[in-house]
Amino acid sequence: MTVLVLNGPNLNRLGTREPLIYGSQTYADLERLCRDTGDKLGLAVDVRQTNAEHEMLEWLHTAADDVDDVVLNAAAWTHTSVAIGDACAALTGRLIEVHISNVHKRETFRHHSYVSAHADGIIVGCGFDGYRLALEHLAAVPREN
Ligand code: DQA
Repeated sequence: MTVLVLNGPNLNRLGTREPLIYGSQTYADLERLCRDTGDKLGLAVDVRQTNAEHEMLEWLHTAADDVDDVVLNAAAWTHTSVAIGDACAALTGRLIEVHISNVHKRETFRHHSYVSAHADGIIVGCGFDGYRLALEHLAAVPREN
């Protein structure tokens, strides 16, 4: 079983993108953190990022078919995309929603998530550490299916 760590638009720009909000670590650093955490926990972790919504939808569809657990930072699509929300509703493994920043401290349009209603857990505002916490939770808690 693989845990897919899926990242949405603009997260490839971490490190240079709004560092006061997202920090100075890069997307490569985030990938490394997730892989190293997976290695420590004995989890197969597949970390991906896309700026193309159709690609994210295809990854979510395949995760549903393969009954994979998903750690999802849908970035801006979180707040805009019914399609991403629908794909999350159809997942068959567990879903942990992650946001690097505390979206609830930010603009009102970031307070609504199309993902949250379908998530088993939500981690916001813990920086990159949120990904580690999500992976540790998935490793610690047995799956029901
Ligand atoms: C984000 C928060 C979103 O509101 C924003 O659009 C992002 C990143 C986060 O990780 O804090 O791109 O998902």
